Amino acid sequence: MIKKDILVTGDRPTGKLHLGHYVGTLENRIKLQNDYDCFFLIADLHMLTTHNEKVGELRGNIESLVIDWLSIGLDPKKSCFYLQSLVPEINELTLLLSMICSVPRVQRIPTLKEKLSHMGDTDNYSLGLLSYPILMSADILIFNANKVPVGEDQLSHVELARELSRRFNSLYGNTIVEPEPLISEFSRLVGIDGKSKMSKSLNNCIYLADDDTEVQKKVMKMFTDPNRTSPDIPGKVEGNPVFIYHDIFNNNLEELEDFKDRYSKGKIGDVEVKKSLAKNINNFLDPIREKRLQVSKNRGEIFDIIIEGSKQARLIAKDNLEKIKDAMKITFKEI
Ligand code: TRP
Repeated sequence: MIKKDILVTGDRPTGKLHLGHYVGTLENRIKLQNDYDCFFLIADLHMLTTHNEKVGELRGNIESLVIDWLSIGLDPKKSCFYLQSLVPEINELTLLLSMICSVPRVQRIPTLKEKLSHMGDTDNYSLGLLSYPILMSADILIFNANKVPVGEDQLSHVELARELSRRFNSLYGNTIVEPEPLISEFSRLVGIDGKSKMSKSLNNCIYLADDDTEVQKKVMKMFTDPNRTSPDIPGKVEGNPVFIYHDIFNNNLEELEDFKDRYSKGKIGDVEVKKSLAKNINNFLDPIREKRLQVSKNRGEIFDIIIEGSKQARLIAKDNLEKIKDAMKITFKEI
């Protein structure tokens, strides 16, 4: 059998997944799980870097994340679903990697600055948050991943993982595979408010678990061209969130071209364009909803999947960590 390349990616269990996650990375995973040996990570320790008070929500969030994964068609028979805290070798590698990573290097990472500006308290962030990208590097490097599919916002973290693998190999000999990021076509989906990206904290999401009516309500409220106060005013298609979503979720290209043409000439109202968009998003979500219903009937199996996957992941992680420690000459097996 030909050995497949290894792929590692994952999510923090901070709540329900939304369309932004779907187009940014989930869709990619569905295809990739057939071609790679996939490790899908539930990054519970990463959640603690910003939500250390929310430990009571962890279990529910982990369950909801795996239900989302199963609903979109990720398959635990093809891929390994594992929980970060059940693979403690990741923590050990995080510590080892932190020895070869400078503090200014992680301070320069743009996502840290962004997180701090969201938190508002730049003097009081945890050491865990600072070392977030080192933990993420360990998630990736412990499996000798070849590919890491992520949204654009996570690229700077994968870049650190690449750098750390190179630094490790030049210091201690060639041991760790240098991973490559994989970015999807639409890596950043604008929110329904038209502001930056879709994000739970900005309350501008359509969730994979939203029902038909919720989707309709959200789409009807969507931000469009603010200068268009009546349907006969020519509207802007380029950069208009409603058309960005149409481009992704409407497969009827003829209809879409017609909408765009009439919109830019002031010959169609927002309501018609939005109604069609809601219908298309609902069509897209329908099979996911159906699968969610099935999966939710077997809730008891969710943690079995996680525990089984974590066991498998741990065997590989142990083996690789041993090689890494051997390279660093810190294995004293005889003791
Ligand atoms: N940081 C990623 C996010 O917030 C989640 C994550 C943690 C991850 N470890 C990873 C993604 C390893 C890819 C590989 O989306």
